[in-house]
Amino acid sequence: MAGSGIFGEIIDGDVFKYYADGEWKKSSSGKAVSIINPTTRKTQYKVQACTQEEVNKVMETAKAAQKSWAKTPLWKRAELLHKAAAILKEHRAPIAEALIKEIAKPAKDAVTEVVRSGDLVSYCAEEGVRILGQGTFLVSDSFPGNERTKYCLTSKIPLGVVLAIPPFNYPVNLAVSKIAPALIAGNSLVLKPPTQGAVACLHMVHCFHLAGFPKGLISCITGKGSEIGDFLTMHPGVNCISFTGGDTGIAISKKAGMIPLQMELGGKDACIVLEDADLDLVAANIVKGGFSYSGQRCTAVKVVLVMESIADTLVEKVKSKVAKLTVGPPEDDCDITPVVSESSANFIEGLVMDAKQKGATFCQEYKREGNLIWPLLLDHVRPDMRIAWEEPFGPVLPVIRIGSVEEGIHHCNASNFGLQGCVFTKDINKAMLISDAMETGTVQINSAPARGPDHFPFQGIKDSGIGSQGITNSINMMTKVKSTVINLPTPSYTMG
Ligand code: G3P
Repeated sequence: MAGSGIFGEIIDGDVFKYYADGEWKKSSSGKAVSIINPTTRKTQYKVQACTQEEVNKVMETAKAAQKSWAKTPLWKRAELLHKAAAILKEHRAPIAEALIKEIAKPAKDAVTEVVRSGDLVSYCAEEGVRILGQGTFLVSDSFPGNERTKYCLTSKIPLGVVLAIPPFNYPVNLAVSKIAPALIAGNSLVLKPPTQGAVACLHMVHCFHLAGFPKGLISCITGKGSEIGDFLTMHPGVNCISFTGGDTGIAISKKAGMIPLQMELGGKDACIVLEDADLDLVAANIVKGGFSYSGQRCTAVKVVLVMESIADTLVEKVKSKVAKLTVGPPEDDCDITPVVSESSANFIEGLVMDAKQKGATFCQEYKREGNLIWPLLLDHVRPDMRIAWEEPFGPVLPVIRIGSVEEGIHHCNASNFGLQGCVFTKDINKAMLISDAMETGTVQINSAPARGPDHFPFQGIKDSGIGSQGITNSINMMTKVKSTVINLPTPSYTMG
């Protein structure tokens, strides 16, 4: 159970502690932030409302701890990460329980998130050993005007203190996707979890604590964004920010100093369906891609752009699959569970009502109870409807019928987002041309968008983000290149 057994020390009364300097602590604010269970809409957990002074302390210890961590042998850093991964996987049950209660993640998906996170940490340790164990060697006579008198050696060195801010929808997985690359590369790490998802994050951090990482290397600060959000992201002690979330990321990138940023800020992933597509495959992917975790994924299929001639058949196939989705509490492992908050449900409802008013065809009746919204497919959506462009982050999927492939590509590219997209066709040549034309970080051919496997590059363009993630890219992003040039008095050639 969350907060018990080996996790007993992370809670005080009914308030979870924050983690700093290798210890679980109560905030001097004496205040707590409540975490509302999306299903019951009642307070499920409480976490510390940390102060700016506590942020300052964490930054100081993170800076000091990083200096000696950077001198810790790479194999030893990897060993500790492997240990943390094993502890995380062993204790998946209480962490999954927190995910169910805080973010209404279906029971099986909650367990999968924790296991996937352990695998990510292990892979990151292995990848780090490989790529950080290598550098480059350059000689000067390859550039015009130079003789072979300079040898340049390069290696990758840590940035310093990395600030990680994961979103509510994968609080554990998208936290470790920042923590593990930061640590293997020799950085220290300050984690600011989302409020909903904070308790799962605190449990995950305790697994790193139990693995025996040095004091102060990892910290986890909880609290109100209004109190410590800007203070953290603008803190002079931060040397890199890795953020996943909504358009708050745009504000952060405007305010952050001259530091590397890794941002993933959502998407409006288009699914373009051509006449020759396997429509059973398409329907299965639309339902999985559009409705898993109730559509609360950055990479969810968020608009279907289907050729008019096959639209009726496809919509019928999707409708019959949607009818089979189970709707209810995450504890019962239902396919559709309550969305994360009442304000999110209200926003989704606003998009649905706008589409209704403007004449979209409702393939199911719109139904909502509290934060639980039944899956809804909206056909005959037109570009003047908000749902054609905005990201519902809920179980509502618009279908736009297109007269040509160009129309589909145009709609995809007119979005301010550019995370992923997908195209369904049996013609690989057409698929490649469409993929090249789509202004998105990734295009999936004959499958719904997805971030994983976690070592694949993952990036958005336009308002979808800055930089590229995936294990290898994240390790590289959290390092900088250092060169040493050896200057020789005379040209020197191998083998004389
Ligand atoms: O919403 C977060 C985004 O990274 C999605 O991940 O694994 O569901 O494709 P995934």
